[in-house]
Amino acid sequence: EEGMAVSDLATELALDPTEIVKVLFLNGKMATVNQIIDAESVTLVAEEYGVEVLQKESEDTVVKVTFEGDEDVTEGEQEARPPVVAIMGHVDHGKTSLLDRLRKSQVAEGEAGGITQSIGAYSINVNSSWITLLDTPGHEAFTAMRARGASVTDIAVLVVAADDGVKPQTKEALQQAQAAGVPIIVAVTKMDVSGAQVERVKQELSQINLLPEEWGGETVVVPLSSKTGEGVDQLLDSIVLLSEVYEYKGVSDVPARGTILEANMDKSCGPIASCIVQAGSLKIGDVVAAGTGYGKVKSMTDASGESRDEVKPSFAVQMIGLNNVPSAGDAFQVVEDEQTAREMAEKALDKERKARLSEQSSGSFMSFGSFD
Ligand code: GTP
Ligand code: MG
Repeated sequence: EEGMAVSDLATELALDPTEIVKVLFLNGKMATVNQIIDAESVTLVAEEYGVEVLQKESEDTVVKVTFEGDEDVTEGEQEARPPVVAIMGHVDHGKTSLLDRLRKSQVAEGEAGGITQSIGAYSINVNSSWITLLDTPGHEAFTAMRARGASVTDIAVLVVAADDGVKPQTKEALQQAQAAGVPIIVAVTKMDVSGAQVERVKQELSQINLLPEEWGGETVVVPLSSKTGEGVDQLLDSIVLLSEVYEYKGVSDVPARGTILEANMDKSCGPIASCIVQAGSLKIGDVVAAGTGYGKVKSMTDASGESRDEVKPSFAVQMIGLNNVPSAGDAFQVVEDEQTAREMAEKALDKERKARLSEQSSGSFMSFGSFD
């Protein structure tokens, strides 16, 4: 019988093969990691993870898996959209400081200390073009998205401190960026500190296959200081240049969809979710399904605290109106009616419940999880 090896399916779904064995087990099917499972079982597992199975009926049946909602939208008018730039790198190497400096570089002096909210992403305007900066790289949202085979990032800025050099998490961040297949710009931060050694950093970069342009390689390396502002404009120029080369486009006249960056329960407003729109325009009154939550969009607020009626691709907002708190990295999408949204959320809840069950069943006898 035609089918697929558990291990191959695991690779397709970016899951641990034992996870698939568990899902099958919970559905009354026994399988081992090396076993070939039939098409019916493949579909069962795929549905569990919200993916669609395309089956080709030929001699050598190929089961191809595509991610629901992650295929490129081709219908609709293509419009220019800002690049989504993730600032990544080792702990304490200056990611947040760089973000703060980049944000300040575009607001007038007087506004610099104004009220801003952490929504996981900021859009800044540089010489009349927009750039969206992501604040939470290495964040659980990214891990969850990778598991889905999805990505929100167009460009990675890999931050390396001039006085500390390439570290384990620098390499991890690099791997993430490479897995996402996005161009990488290196920012050598803290150039103002006395121990800054940019040449040594470039040496270390060369050793991890990031040969600087000035050494005959292809990697743009921008030395900068978020404290003095030195080099920050060059970094912005490099980002703008890349976005001119790539001409990022999105469709805005389709039902919106995107990714949840972070979400939490607010005492007075209920569930609040930061989300980045990746296609379509998200509007007040839209019915949204987002992970285990669903609801009608009541209000949207951007990173500068302004309320918004409509949000275009590559822009992020905090939205209020969901009935339940989704997880970071969950996909969200606008659907026709609340009935559909509720069904999607219920499916996600069910999946979560099963995952929790399988976690408990695999735990040791001595450590019962808490029952909440
Ligand atoms: P995590 O989020 O904890 O991983 O750190 P981070 O990468 O966001 O680093 P953060 O921006 O918080 O900076 C860490 C420390 O380095 C802080 O004390 C900053 O003030 C300092 N720092 C960051 N950039 C610079 C810089 O360009 N010059 C100097 N002198 N200090 C800097
Ligand atoms: Mg930080």
